[in-house]
Amino acid sequence: MKNDDLKNNWSRNAVVYQIYPLSFKDSNHDGSGDLNGIISALDYLNDGTPNSLGIGAIWISPIYKSPMKDCGYDISDYYDINPLFGTLEDFDRLIKEAHKRGVRIIMDFVINHTSNEHPWFLESKSSLNNPRRDWYIWRDPKEDGSPPNNWLSISGGSAWTFDETTKQYYFHSFLPEQPDLNWRTEAVRGEMMNVVRFWLKRGVDGFRVDALDTLVEDGYLRDDPANPKYDAKIDGEYTSLKHSFSRMPSETKYCTNILCNTVSEFENKFIISEAYAKIPLMAEMFKSCDKKIHSPFNFNLMKLPWKATEFKKFVDEYEKSLHKEDWPNYVFGNHDRPRLQDRIGEAKLKVAAMLLLTLRGMPFIYYGEEIGMKNANIPESEIKDMFALRANNPKSSRDPERSPMQWNSDLNAGFGDVKPWLPLSDDYKETNVEIESKNPNSLLTLYKELIHLRNNSIVLKLGSYKSLKTKSPDIFSYVREREGKRILVILNFSDNQIEEPLPPNKFKVLVSTDKERKQGEDISGNSIAIKPNGGYVLEVMEQLGKY
Ligand code: GLC
Repeated sequence: MKNDDLKNNWSRNAVVYQIYPLSFKDSNHDGSGDLNGIISALDYLNDGTPNSLGIGAIWISPIYKSPMKDCGYDISDYYDINPLFGTLEDFDRLIKEAHKRGVRIIMDFVINHTSNEHPWFLESKSSLNNPRRDWYIWRDPKEDGSPPNNWLSISGGSAWTFDETTKQYYFHSFLPEQPDLNWRTEAVRGEMMNVVRFWLKRGVDGFRVDALDTLVEDGYLRDDPANPKYDAKIDGEYTSLKHSFSRMPSETKYCTNILCNTVSEFENKFIISEAYAKIPLMAEMFKSCDKKIHSPFNFNLMKLPWKATEFKKFVDEYEKSLHKEDWPNYVFGNHDRPRLQDRIGEAKLKVAAMLLLTLRGMPFIYYGEEIGMKNANIPESEIKDMFALRANNPKSSRDPERSPMQWNSDLNAGFGDVKPWLPLSDDYKETNVEIESKNPNSLLTLYKELIHLRNNSIVLKLGSYKSLKTKSPDIFSYVREREGKRILVILNFSDNQIEEPLPPNKFKVLVSTDKERKQGEDISGNSIAIKPNGGYVLEVMEQLGKY
């Protein structure tokens, strides 16, 4: 185990930026983003100066060879790059250029399933006694010819598809084009670890593990029980069952452990795994890697009502559940969920940014979040998301949060010079990188200030977290502390101005949402006025007061 000094592990220092490669930057005029597009935008992410965002790592959604039935989450070759995105040489250049700027690369790793066009699956389905038969999950039909049990697919319909060649069903948690791998088969685990080593040797710094929570299912294939809370009028079919047997996230520890051991053969790597888990399950998942180089994603902020009391309660409980050296993380958006702007409204975005970038742990920014991109209006006739098409449910489409990055007010928002694969959001002429870069009061400017503050502050990167009792229930306030240095964060979640008592100290403004309060300005007195939806990051200048 080589990650002895965890505080030097890059994960403890980096703000992470998620890139959805199809939608970031098109360099080769085909309407889809690509690796060279990403390379051309690296200076925006981090050019070493406060003019850039100051990102420390990028997670790129899958770029492997794929028939693109689920936008790359259906891999047909784990050892090659999809020509749509570029070549292995382009990828090597991306790693080199990113590392030159101090930016780490996190590879998306789809371990639950492959594409149905993957040679492993083609072999597996070719005959009952093919050596790769048990690489996937095959079962006989019931006597009446129906699927082996009642399990449903997350992307709509039964989780079983009948295959004529061998007259058996195969299991797929997602689309029929995404057959589940059988992690009970030793050879599968072995081959997947070879994949891990292949990319780590190439220089990637870690993995985002896709759909870890669907990796293990009941060996006896017991039926999932009905969900008593299901309401057919509002819920999709998938919600009609409780997925107690088709999805057993607490049983995935063994797999995470293998992954962790493999990753720790290399120095300074990190894994973050996808599971929509509440605190107790996250706590369980942390335990699966004693090397402390794995965190389960924390998606809970995406669901919390926008109330200071709810956020305080959650962060306090999450922090309390963590063991020493477990590394927390916070996420407001990704390619599967409506954009933050659509959930909480534009007025709240600055407070959200301040919260995300001053909490303890790893902050994740979904591309475009930093400029306040909203969900695009995608006409039904242009929906690309196969999940929505298969479930025949346009409302469930994930396309709106995947619209092209808004670089400027020019043709196609500067994404590329031909029509992008998905329509642009109609606000791109006002909401874009170029315009916001010039505006000292923009959301983008605030993101840059906060990230640079964090990058240069050991207190914000590694300091402890302690929430404070506040007079107003609309204020969430906490102290970060390390080696006697303290930073106080005060966030107003409401639409009203609030006068909040201050602890007896002197403070200096580090960052404020209120541009009338200059950076470096002294603050003292018994209270502070915080504008509606405003916030402060303050340096504590004296150590007198108690918190
Ligand atoms: C994950 C991905 C999602 C994908 C699914 C199947 O949840 O985030 O985009 O469709 O896995 O791979």
